[in-house]
Order: sequence, then structure tokens, then C-alpha cells
Amino acid sequence: MKVGVAGWPVAHSRSPVIFDHWFARYGINARYETIPVPPDEADAFFADLPAEWTGVNVTVPHKETAARHAVCDERAAALGTANTLWRMDGAVHATSSDGPGFVASLDQDAPQWRESGGDTLVLGAGGAALSVVDALTRAGARVRVANRTKARAEALATRTGAEVVAWEDAAAALREVRLVVNTTSLGMEGKPALPLDLAALPPGSVVADIVYVPLVTPLLAEARARGHVAVDGLGMLLHQATVGFERWFGVRPQVDARLREKVVATL
Ligand code: ATR
Repeated sequence: MKVGVAGWPVAHSRSPVIFDHWFARYGINARYETIPVPPDEADAFFADLPAEWTGVNVTVPHKETAARHAVCDERAAALGTANTLWRMDGAVHATSSDGPGFVASLDQDAPQWRESGGDTLVLGAGGAALSVVDALTRAGARVRVANRTKARAEALATRTGAEVVAWEDAAAALREVRLVVNTTSLGMEGKPALPLDLAALPPGSVVADIVYVPLVTPLLAEARARGHVAVDGLGMLLHQATVGFERWFGVRPQVDARLREKVVATL
């Protein structure tokens, strides 16, 4: 049995490490491979998913193309994006596990986020933000969104029911929230840090970043220094993968310290 992740480029994906760990742990005889799909071949690939693949994860830039060609569940249809494909009754089905993966990571690493009322500020309004805001809203959070390009924040707000905060007002808006999530690419290796002063954030809040290279972004370092709970982006990557594994192999795999160590060693 063969499964894999389709993207472009995809060679640096950590998913094979994650799945190999679970194959060994749960005694499953399968292979997980990277599947390089050039952009001009994506439509053909997803329209007629080659039979050799029992299940496929999808990463950038193909998540929308994959959703267009599959039978989407309610979430993938609402988002217009898919990262997990499986075969059922002769059709290819799809869901989007990024948002659920993010919320599962919060639940594991900072479960107090649910008790503090759910007021949340999300920075960014790209594809990752859409998945995160959708999942947080479904989990009962009240989400405010700030983005450098305000029109994108407004578009995201219209789709998800979130409220828009001006990018310049993000630091002041922290007074009202107990959870902050960075979905921008700022703080990533080689990029500038997210320019956000956490001074106004109430004590004991949760600060999450979906960036995982580096594991501790400048934002998370500042959050820790101020005594907040910091949640790094690796948890989202690990938890989103559990959805495909369970679909394909019938076991909900554990995200534990040993798995984290293995993936951290590749960063
Ligand atoms: P993804 O699908 O991974 O979320 P994306 O659609 O390129 O990627 O979104 C990247 C996010 O990072 C956007 O919110 C982007 O802001 P804009 O919508 O204004 O482009 C944000 N971002 C990237 N570089 C930034 C910077 N230098 N300052 C502020 N925001 C930035």
C-alpha cells in the first residue's frame, strides 16, 4: 500500500518522517512518499488520481486544485481547499485537516485556551488563516483578524464571520483577547519577525504560531518571556497528519514526544 504527499516543491516535506514513525509504531506495512506534481500537471493528476496511490496528502500549491476534483466533505467544500484525499465507493473524497490539526494542537499543548472565553486575534489572512479561523470559529472562538492588506482581512471576515481589526491596531486589540495566532510568514527563517508588541496581552494568555522553522519564533520567545503559554507550529503539522492516517489505516495515531523529537531533528 502506498500513500504520499503531492506538492511543488515537496522534497523537503516532513510528512514521510511522521508517517514512517506511525507505520513502525502501529505495525502497518505501507510506504509514504513525496509526489512532485508540477503546477501545469496538477489538474490532470487530481482529475484522475493514479491508482497506485491509496491515499494522498496535498500541500502547496495544489490544495485548491485537489478540492476541485474530489468529492469534498462539508469543511473542504466550505473552504475550497483540501489536504487529505481517500478513495471510497470508486470516488476520490477530500477533507481539509489543517484547521482541525491546529485546534487539536492547541487542545494538547494549551487546553486552557477554551476556558478563557475564546476571544482570539489572528494575524494574517492567507490560506492558512482561512483554515485556522474557520476551525477556531467552529470550536466556539470569537475571532478578530488583522492583516497588512486590509481587503484580504475583510474577505476572510465575510467568509468566516470574524471581525476585522486594522493592522496598526493589532497591538492595542490584544487587550481584548486571550489567544493570539500568527498565520503570516513573518518570523519564519530568513524573514523579519512579526512586529507585534505583546505588552497589552492579559497575563496567562496563549500565543500560537503556525511557523515551525524556527520552532521558537521571535513572537513565541517574547510570549514565553512574558509568561504566556507558547504553542509552536509543529503541533499543527503533526495533528493534521493524524486525519489521513486514520482514514487510510483505520487507527487514530498518537502525537507524542517521541514523534516530535524525530521531526524536530529534521528541522
Ligand atoms: P498562506 O496561504 O500560507 O497563508 P499567503 O496567502 O501568501 O500564504 O499569506 C501570507 C500571509 O502573510 C498574508 O496574510 C500576508 O499579508 P498580505 O495579505 O498583506 O500579503 C502576510 N505577510 C507576508 N509578509 C508580510 C509582511 N512583511 N508584513 C505583514 N504581513 C505579511
